[in-house]
Amino acid sequence: MFGELFPEAVRYAELLADAGVKRGLIGPREVPRLWERHLLNCAVLSEVVPEGVTVCDVGSGAGLPGIPLALVRPDLKITLLEPLLRRTNFLQEVVELLGLDHVTVVRGRAEEVLGTLQPVHVVTARAVAPLDRLAGWGVPLLKPYGEMLALKGDTAEEELNGARAALSKLGVLETEVLHVGEGVVDPLSTVVRVVVGESPGGVRFAAKRAKAARTGRTRRRR
Ligand SMILES: C[S@@+](CC[C@H](N)C(=O)[O-])C[C@H]1O[C@@H](n2cnc3c(N)ncnc32)[C@H](O)[C@@H]1O
Repeated sequence: MFGELFPEAVRYAELLADAGVKRGLIGPREVPRLWERHLLNCAVLSEVVPEGVTVCDVGSGAGLPGIPLALVRPDLKITLLEPLLRRTNFLQEVVELLGLDHVTVVRGRAEEVLGTLQPVHVVTARAVAPLDRLAGWGVPLLKPYGEMLALKGDTAEEELNGARAALSKLGVLETEVLHVGEGVVDPLSTVVRVVVGESPGGVRFAAKRAKAARTGRTRRRR
């Protein structure tokens, strides 16, 4: 799965198991299952990310799914967005130690950085919030016709059905539940894919983005 960057993937797993646990970013019980439940489960998201696009991993935490995705996809430009300083410090260290030049760490909440981050083609997220709330944060960060890919568990279909009205208000045109990672992970990883139209986030967010562009707000915290 990780090809030439397998040594970097091993280093990341070691960092999670050591500093990640000591600093409370990942539970000690996760250590024996870091590869299948975390690194591989996230890396297979790569199957559904288009070539050469910009990605924002919302609520990246200790770097999931953003870091495994970056390790398998050097063609992407990835922003790891995370509000908590303890976590962004860890993320910055990982990015530097692994030499991931195509990854940037930004500290902030998705709803606060709207208009300060360049809109992206793909938003990724895992374990951040229920789909309707997550979409409210993630969809406005997208470019027109972009897509949000949310790694979800068994409740994916149910969450999607419950979120349809909210998604429609946010300008989502298409939704599907995908299963990825055949031959790599068992069970397969479940991804909810939502694709937006011309106005991601709807009218309210379009106005906010336009205002930010007019006033040239470029606040970016590291
Ligand atoms: C349960 S953790 C999941 C971390 C990681 N995605 C994973 O799968 O291990 C949820 C993360 O979302 C972040 N978060 C919560 N609300 C957020 C928001 N509005 N914008 C961006 N990140 C947020 C939290 O700080 C936390 O790191």
